[in-house]
Amino acid sequence: MRQTTIKQLLQQARERIDLLDAELIIAFVLKKTREFVIAHGECGVRKFASAQVCKLIRKRERGEPLAYLTGHKDFFGLDFAVNKSVLVPRPETEVLVESVIECLMTEDIGHRTILIDVGTGSGCIPIAITKSLHHHITSSLKIFAIDISKVALRIARLNAKKHGVKIKFLHGSLLTPLLKTCKLARPQTHALIITANLPYLTLKQYRQSASIKREPKNALVAGKTGLGLYEKLLKQIRSPISNIQYPISVFFEIDPSQSKPIVRLIEKYLPKAVVEIKKDLSGRDRVVETIYFA
Ligand SMILES: C[S@@+](CC[C@H](N)C(=O)[O-])C[C@H]1O[C@@H](n2cnc3c(N)ncnc32)[C@H](O)[C@@H]1O
Repeated sequence: MRQTTIKQLLQQARERIDLLDAELIIAFVLKKTREFVIAHGECGVRKFASAQVCKLIRKRERGEPLAYLTGHKDFFGLDFAVNKSVLVPRPETEVLVESVIECLMTEDIGHRTILIDVGTGSGCIPIAITKSLHHHITSSLKIFAIDISKVALRIARLNAKKHGVKIKFLHGSLLTPLLKTCKLARPQTHALIITANLPYLTLKQYRQSASIKREPKNALVAGKTGLGLYEKLLKQIRSPISNIQYPISVFFEIDPSQSKPIVRLIEKYLPKAVVEIKKDLSGRDRVVETIYFA
């Protein structure tokens, strides 16, 4: 019996899903690149592999994110392992990463800087930051990554290992695991950077968006306004570490509709802070950068 060819599989798939997704699914099953799939349409595909492709195409058609089907997602030019317990890294988050890199490159990094990523998920934020910086900057960085989900931390650890990035992972809510210790009050510390892409959707937004229902709700939704977790985090930044003698830079990813309310919250909890809003590639407010001198 003749084998099905890549071209035939693509023809069947493109009636049901995006051509790009189909190419990536076939490439994943055949353990080849997308370029190979495009260039070798006449190549025969074994029965078992064809069946696997068809199964994944059916799942994709039902709305399963491509990244969960292949177990991988490209973010900031790096490959990250993902599964259903973590949010699939988004291109919007690259704006936050770029802002932190810019901040670290302009810092006087002669002394130690602490970087804390709150709600780390796959670990994509601190890993992408570290991999993009020169060793002389990263060698003076002490990195912590916190998540309330133990399963997410497992994936984040895997990604850090894969990319050779040294991160201390902590389980718990917001900054609590670090505030319990005195790690932030190191005398030699020069600056503190806090990054957070915490859940910021309202329940209404979540219910209205069919495409995100396959991802963990706990990674996406935060109360009535979506800003509940950011407010708690701001309270933590203000209170126990307010006697810190060095500047604190805070980077939050937000929904574009939240730029005014988040600025009001920052003014409430960190009245002396300087705040700047950065836009994503579609020109929508996406990242809030705050510099706070205690
Ligand atoms: C929107 S996802 C972002 C994941 C990752 N930082 C990214 O940008 O792809 C939010 C993450 O925050 C975590 N999270 C939710 N509530 C938290 C809390 N109270 N403390 C720490 N992490 C929390 C979730 O488990 C999830 O991994």
